[in-house]
Amino acid sequence: MPSEHPATPGEPSIVSLDSMKNDMQPVDIGTFRAIMGSLPTGVCVVSAIDKEDEPRGLTCNAVCSVSQEPPLVLVCVDLLKESLHALRDSGGFVVNVLREDRSRVSQLFASPSASKFDGVFWEASEVLKLPMLTTDALAYAECRIVADLQVGDHAMLVGMIVGGEPPLGGRPLMYWRRGYSNWPEAAIPNGMGRPTNSA
Ligand SMILES: Cc1cc2nc3c(=O)[nH]c(=O)nc-3n(C[C@H](O)[C@H](O)[C@H](O)COP(=O)(O)O)c2cc1C
Repeated sequence: MPSEHPATPGEPSIVSLDSMKNDMQPVDIGTFRAIMGSLPTGVCVVSAIDKEDEPRGLTCNAVCSVSQEPPLVLVCVDLLKESLHALRDSGGFVVNVLREDRSRVSQLFASPSASKFDGVFWEASEVLKLPMLTTDALAYAECRIVADLQVGDHAMLVGMIVGGEPPLGGRPLMYWRRGYSNWPEAAIPNGMGRPTNSA
C-alpha cells in the first residue's frame, strides 16, 4: 500500500489532488493531450531489470531535469504499466536518450511486449548494471531512485544520476503531435551533433 508523506524507503508517497479538484474542474483528457502534444520533446527509453532478472523498459518523453546539485532527473510512468514494477524493484533506472532515426526503437518500447530487448543491442551499465541501449542512445543516465510519488495516474520517480555518458555526437530523435522527426540541421550548435560511426 502506498503511504502518505513522509515516504518510507521503497514505498511511493501519494500526492493528494482532492482539494484541487474541489476548487476547479480539470479539462478533459482530449484537451490535455492536445495541449501537451504541442510541446516538442526528445524521446527516451527508460530501462531496468525485473525480479526474474529480465530487462524491461518503456518509451518515455515525460523526462525532466530537476536539480544540478545533486544531479536529479524525474520520469513519469503510468501506474498501470508493467515496466514500473521493474523500475521500482531495481531501485533505479537508465534514461536512454534516443538518437535520430530511431523511431522503430521508440515504437518497440511503446508496446507492452515482454521481449522488447530481443530487438535491440543492449548491455549492462557500468554502475547500476541496468540495461542501456548502447548503439541507439545519444546519451544515457544511470539513476538511483530517491523519491517515488504517486501523482494522479502516474508515478513520478526522481532519480539521482550516479553514472552515464554525455553525448558523443549525433542528433536526437524528436516527438511532436504524435509524430517523429529529426532535429533540424540549422538548429545544431557549432561542433555538436556530428554523426558518429556508432549512430
Ligand atoms: C513518444 C512516446 C512517449 C511516451 N511517454 C510515456 C511516458 O512518459 N510515460 C509513460 O508511462 N508512458 C509513455 N509512453 C507510453 C509507453 O511507452 C507504453 O505504454 C508502453 O507500452 C509501456 O510499456 P510496458 O507496458 O512494457 O510497461 C510513451 C509512448 C510514446 C510513443
